[in-house]
Amino acid sequence: MADINITVDGKRVTAAQGTLLIEACKSVGIEVPSFCYYPNLSLQGACRMCLVKVEKMPKLQTACTTVISEGMIVTTDSDEIRQARKSMVEMLLGNHPLDCPVCDAGGECELQDMTFSYGAAESKFIEPKNHKDEQQWSPVVFFDRPRCILCYRCVRVCGEAMDVWALGVQNRGVTSIIAPNREDHLECEECGMCIDICPVGALTSGAYRYKTRPWEMKHVGTTCTHCGDGCKTTLGVRRSDTGMEIVRGDNRDKSGAHSQGWAPHSIHLGRSFRADWQKLCQYPRSSRRTLHRGRGLEPNHQRRKLFATEVRAHRSANQ
Ligand code: SF4
Ligand code: SF4
Ligand code: SF4
Ligand code: FES
Repeated sequence: MADINITVDGKRVTAAQGTLLIEACKSVGIEVPSFCYYPNLSLQGACRMCLVKVEKMPKLQTACTTVISEGMIVTTDSDEIRQARKSMVEMLLGNHPLDCPVCDAGGECELQDMTFSYGAAESKFIEPKNHKDEQQWSPVVFFDRPRCILCYRCVRVCGEAMDVWALGVQNRGVTSIIAPNREDHLECEECGMCIDICPVGALTSGAYRYKTRPWEMKHVGTTCTHCGDGCKTTLGVRRSDTGMEIVRGDNRDKSGAHSQGWAPHSIHLGRSFRADWQKLCQYPRSSRRTLHRGRGLEPNHQRRKLFATEVRAHRSANQ
């Protein structure tokens, strides 16, 4: 594929034809902030954090949806761009709770980072925030709606990467909310990928939530042994009365055996079922389903239904 030459902030950048502007900038170490953009997922253009100036274009453009073209001259940092990003953060924080001291995402939150880098110190909003109680959608997945910034990463990873399509968007415009596939709960693979990919603390793990803070753990890269795929996973480990305790398993460095930037990590579920790995292994994972499909076999829906029933039984037994 032919190479394309562009100029970003006065720097000459060469990238393959078809490359997105955000990726071309990244390749030379120029950061363009983003929430909804995630490599290998479909483009969303929802958050408008990636606005940049492209010469000869009258308005700021979203770098995550703009494909580079020969001779493009791009500016990623100016007063106008900073003001636009600041407004986006301000809008996102308008109804956002001040939960940082207790939020699971605190210390690893993209919204925190973005607020420090681009946000305003004060808010113009004086109205009371629209509070909603958190919801438990499954033994693994909890949802805190006011923290959600509607980036739709969870919806896309569940559908496009996991092929489960258990999450969706309800309503339109300002009333849009992320919703599970079964009214008030999830019937899904419980892979935890939506939790991993959420840039804020809106989706949290039933196996980890409120247990510790990211800076209190050591993060150890290892291989998940749950199925034959051998995805890379990261264990959050900390000292406990009985020695060392594994508090969390996730896809912290966004790498995986599938080389797509994610790895289904059943370890979320493994933690909530504690030592019940053997039983867990009797049920098909989505990675296995993909494998089966590749071999022309259909996924075993009957076993999946059975699994969902067991998850519900486990939840009521532990309530
Ligand atoms: S999601 Fe991020 S910004 Fe919001 S409360 Fe949690 S840590 Fe704070
Ligand atoms: S846990 Fe996995 S399967 Fe369930 S909703 Fe989240 S991404 Fe989809
Ligand atoms: S729950 Fe998280 S990943 Fe899903 S749309 Fe909200 S902020 Fe994005
Ligand atoms: S990252 Fe470009 S619009 Fe969200």
